[in-house]
Amino acid sequence: MGDGTRDRTSSRRDCIRTIAAAGGAAALASCTPGTEGALGASDDQTPADMEARHFPEGYPPYPSAEATETAFSEHVSPGNVGVMQAFGTELHFGQREGARVQDAFTGKWYWDCHRNGTRHRNPDIIAAVKEALHQLEIGNLLLVSGYKAKAAEKLIASTDGALTGVTYTASGAESTEVAIRATRGMTRRTKLVSVEASYHGHTCFALAAGDSADNHERYLLDFDDFVFVPYDDVDAMAAAVDDQTAAVLIESSPAQAGFPVPDPGYFRAVMDTCRKHGAKLIIDEVQTGLGATGKFWFWQHHGIVPDIVTTAKGLGGGILANAAVLLAPEIKEWFFDTAIPHSSTFGGNELGCVATARVCDLTMAPSFLEHVNALAEQFAEGLRGGPYQVNQHGLCMGILAEEMGKMEMTARLFEAGIFTVPAWYTDGGVEFRPILTLTENEADEIIGIFRDTVG
Ligand SMILES: Cc1ncc(COP(=O)(O)O)c(C=O)c1O
Repeated sequence: MGDGTRDRTSSRRDCIRTIAAAGGAAALASCTPGTEGALGASDDQTPADMEARHFPEGYPPYPSAEATETAFSEHVSPGNVGVMQAFGTELHFGQREGARVQDAFTGKWYWDCHRNGTRHRNPDIIAAVKEALHQLEIGNLLLVSGYKAKAAEKLIASTDGALTGVTYTASGAESTEVAIRATRGMTRRTKLVSVEASYHGHTCFALAAGDSADNHERYLLDFDDFVFVPYDDVDAMAAAVDDQTAAVLIESSPAQAGFPVPDPGYFRAVMDTCRKHGAKLIIDEVQTGLGATGKFWFWQHHGIVPDIVTTAKGLGGGILANAAVLLAPEIKEWFFDTAIPHSSTFGGNELGCVATARVCDLTMAPSFLEHVNALAEQFAEGLRGGPYQVNQHGLCMGILAEEMGKMEMTARLFEAGIFTVPAWYTDGGVEFRPILTLTENEADEIIGIFRDTVG
C-alpha cells in the first residue's frame, strides 16, 4: 500500500515504473501461456514497451491528476470532475488487480467497494479473451454467431431454464430500453410502474423509468404513464398496477436507496399483481446479478420467475462490454417473431460473448457462490453492532450512518483507503459492494478499516 501522499507532479515515467514494480506486465503475461506474437507483441513486454508500441503518450496519458482533470473537463464532462470532487473521491485508476485499484498519480491503493465485475482483471477472463483474439473481434451484428448462441445457452442455464431467450445489448440502459419496448409491443399498453429511488440507465425510456426528477425535466421525459411507487410497498403497487399497465420494472434492490431489504413476500405479491392485470414483470439485475447476492440472480432468493431480467456491468467480466436481456418463453415468442427484434453493433459482440460465457462458467461453479456466501457472512459478523444500519444482499450492501452523513462517510472511507460512493437517496448511506473474490484476510482488512473509520 502507498502512504497516500498526493503528488500531482509525479511524472508519467514514475508512474510506469510504479506499474512495472507492481509486476503489471508480468501479471498480464503470466495468465496467457502460449500466445506469443498473437497480438503483434510478445507477452513478456514491459509497460514501457507497451507505451512505445501502442500508446505513445504513455500510461496514463497525462502527466498529473490536474492535467487529466483539465482535459477531461474540457472534452468529456466537467460535471463528473465536480461530482468526484464533491464526494471527496478523486481517484484516477492506474494499476488495478483483484480487489484493489491504485491511484495513477499518488500510488495509493484502495479497496474497491464499488465494483463493476466480479473482480479487477480476472486472469480467467483475460486468458479467454486473449485466446479468442487469435481469431475474433466484434463480429457483425446481422450474422448468425455460435459465440452468441453459446453464451446465451449458459445464461439460460443460470435461470434453470425458466427464461429461454436472450437479446444482447451493449449496456444496462440499452437492456432497460429493450425490456420496456418488448413489453409495450406485446401488451399494446404504455403504462409502466417502477419504484422510487431506482436507476435504470441514461437512455430515454431508462431515464424516464428511473427516479430522477432533474433528468425528467431536463430531457422532457416526465411521461404521464410512467408511475413511481415506494419500494417494498405491496399496497401501493397493487393500487398503481391496472389493466393499462404494460410492465412493472423493479431494480431488485435500489442501490441509491442503500440496498433496502424487502419483506420476504414482496416480490411474490408484485408478481401476483402483475399476473392479475396481464402486466409483465421486469427485474433489473444490473447490480445484483451474476452471483453478487449469493445466488446467480437476486430473484432466485424470492420464489418468483420474472418475465424479463436485465443484466450488464460484470457480464463482460470487467474486461469487455456486453449486456443482455433475458426473456421468459411467452414474451420471447412475441419479441422474436420479427426479422430483427433488436440490433446493436456492440451488444453481443463476439469477444464480449467469449467473456460472458466464461463469466457464466465461473459464476455457476458451486464453489464460487459458496465463497460469496461465506464472505457475506464474514461482513455481516464483522460489521455487527456498529453505529450504523447494514442492508445486505450478499455482497451488495448499503451502510447507513445518518449521524455521520453520506458525504462525510464516503470521504472518510476514501481517505482510509476504501473507494465507494454515496447512496444518493439516503441521508447517511454508502453503496458498499466489495469484490466477490476477496480472500478471508482481505475481507478482514476491509472490515477493520471500515470499523476504525465509521465505528
Ligand atoms: C441498477 C442499474 N440499472 C441500469 C444501469 C445502467 O447500466 P449502464 O451504465 O451499463 O447503462 C445501472 C448502472 O449503474 C444500474 O446500476
